[in-house]
Amino acid sequence: MLEQFTEPLRYEGLRGRDIVSAKDLSRGDLEAIFRAADTYRENPSIYRNLLRRKTIALIFVEPSTRTFHSFERASRILGCDVIGIRDPSMTSIAKGESLHDTIRMIESYGADLIVLRHPSKGAALYAAEISNVPVINGGDGGREHPTQAILDLYTIHRKRGSIDGLRIGFLGDLRFSRTVPSLSYALTLYSDIEIYYIAPPILQIRREVEIYLEERGVKYEKISEIESLAKILRNIDVLYVTRLQKERFPDPSEYERLRGVYTVTPEILRIARRDIGIMHPLPRVDELSPELDGTPNAWYFDQARWGIDVRVALLSLVLG
Ligand code: CP
Repeated sequence: MLEQFTEPLRYEGLRGRDIVSAKDLSRGDLEAIFRAADTYRENPSIYRNLLRRKTIALIFVEPSTRTFHSFERASRILGCDVIGIRDPSMTSIAKGESLHDTIRMIESYGADLIVLRHPSKGAALYAAEISNVPVINGGDGGREHPTQAILDLYTIHRKRGSIDGLRIGFLGDLRFSRTVPSLSYALTLYSDIEIYYIAPPILQIRREVEIYLEERGVKYEKISEIESLAKILRNIDVLYVTRLQKERFPDPSEYERLRGVYTVTPEILRIARRDIGIMHPLPRVDELSPELDGTPNAWYFDQARWGIDVRVALLSLVLG
């Protein structure tokens, strides 16, 4: 029998909390977010105007399409006012105002919750320490992007039915990625996970992520030959692709040298498992062929679209 969702999901575990790192989340938290997202999807009307009279501040000091717009849309669905910064060049940040003062000002203008995207690692933790309202990390430099990890897991949960037992390959620029570490940390909450990091040595996963996995006994393997991707394609349920992050390369010539070193095309579907899911946090540049878009294996547009469901769920649970 279909479950009837007649009222928003109640869960006290996330109320009033900062979401700075995927390490902050428990499996119970994630399951509550997934259930709330399912509840919203099944019966959106019960979430309409749920948070009327609340104000969400979106402070985006770095470019964004998906994270900004899905948080904005989710906030408006919930009936919130939305304030904040979209173009830092038109704010006093351009005159040298500090993050500290920006956060204090926005808070004093009535924000009940702040979503921060910032180019500096650790900016979200700093904002959470000085703010009296919950801070959600919308991506802090190359460190973490926890809400992306939540929607990535939600996509796997919806497409595959379960996250336990997942075999996942991460392909691309893993060194400068924030989505891959956050998803890797969150995957440690599930059982029987196997992770393959496929990247040239210079782009391999950071040691801090390896240590976190080792401490929790999660199986992982680093594969430094892109050509070896073919060998593992039959074993993995999901291939998670990331772009080369030009903006984070300390040396532009290194970026030019590595550009185009990996591209995923429909050819891989000839050797991969028939039901392999291809994920990507987006934006893509040239690492993921548009010819894949029409295949059932292309999960990345659903992944981005479901960001709204997940962010409605998360805001409703944090602001209660
Ligand atoms: N996935 C993601 O964070 O995309 P945006 O940079 O467009 O927000």
